[in-house]
Amino acid sequence: MPDIHVCEVGPRDGLQNAKHLMSTEAKKAWIRALAAAGLAEIEVGSFVPPKLIPAMADTAEVVQFARTLPGVTVVALAPNLKGFQRAIEAGAHKVTFPVSASREHSVSNVRMTPEQMVEEVRKCAQFPHPGVEIEGAVSTAFGCTMQGVVPEDDVVRIAKALAEFCDGVALADTVGYANPAQVKRLFRKVKDQIGAKLEGAHFHNTRGLGLANALAAYEEGVRHFDSSMGGLGGCPFAPGASGNVITEDLVFMFEAMGLATGIDLDKLFAAREILIQGIPEEPVYGHTPLAGLPKGFSAHA
Ligand code: COA
Ligand code: ZN
Repeated sequence: MPDIHVCEVGPRDGLQNAKHLMSTEAKKAWIRALAAAGLAEIEVGSFVPPKLIPAMADTAEVVQFARTLPGVTVVALAPNLKGFQRAIEAGAHKVTFPVSASREHSVSNVRMTPEQMVEEVRKCAQFPHPGVEIEGAVSTAFGCTMQGVVPEDDVVRIAKALAEFCDGVALADTVGYANPAQVKRLFRKVKDQIGAKLEGAHFHNTRGLGLANALAAYEEGVRHFDSSMGGLGGCPFAPGASGNVITEDLVFMFEAMGLATGIDLDKLFAAREILIQGIPEEPVYGHTPLAGLPKGFSAHA
């Protein structure tokens, strides 16, 4: 059992915001390489109208493929009941719903207010979904490029509502506004209300604080982290949003600290090469893959 659970969200958060399309075959090769590196949870796509995000049009096929990889929990994002039904039909193990705490981002992203979106997720939770886990992700929890400040009370209220019918709740810094002190404060506040239902942390690296924020969340007891290979990512409906915390650097940080992620760094770097081959025009980021592992480094195991 790893100490840290990493969910690779690049195939969804990364590719939804990429300027170029990755072919279905290249997605499969990348996901296969991620699984081979030990990523036990992969968010492989989203079930949104293909017209809205053409890069996600093949998600059903990608989910079906990812299900064949042993030991991988296949995650998909859905914005509404229709997306949830498509996700169940395709065989996703877990579905995550973006519930923005910022009213403006919520309306821009899903054309629903936060309250309407909470009700949409409730509807999904009431729809038969045997064996499928539901996660409510409170997005723009640390601030919003449209609305600016997002009151912490709004985040707590939404998290509490979601905890009533979701299996787990995550806090997401969709636009990279968070700082470590804020991360500690908000995770503590939400945990006081919903306890162990608060599971995941989803950070973007827009201001270079992704790892610092992840460490702050770790110190508050968080053990589930989303991250994206090569630091791809961003929400097309939140101006100024850029890439997620970088998987390669996140895994290096935790392994160097003596915490097991279950991920093999050399195989992770190999998966990065497959990603680059699959979408060569897209810029990729990351310090550890460029610098290499420190001399004498030994991973946790
Ligand atoms: N998958 C596929 N098609 C869908 C769909 C889904 N999840 N949800 C709705 N549609 C279809 C409807 O059937 C309808 O089709 P029609 O025009 O052929 O009748 C059309 O899309 C419009 O449906 P409607 O319910 O009015 O949706 P909307 O236009 O108000 O959009 C969302 C609402 C939630 C579907 C859309 O805003 C969305 O997908 N947002 C998510 C964006 C995103 O991925 N952000 C990044 C990740 S956080
Ligand atoms: Zn994100």
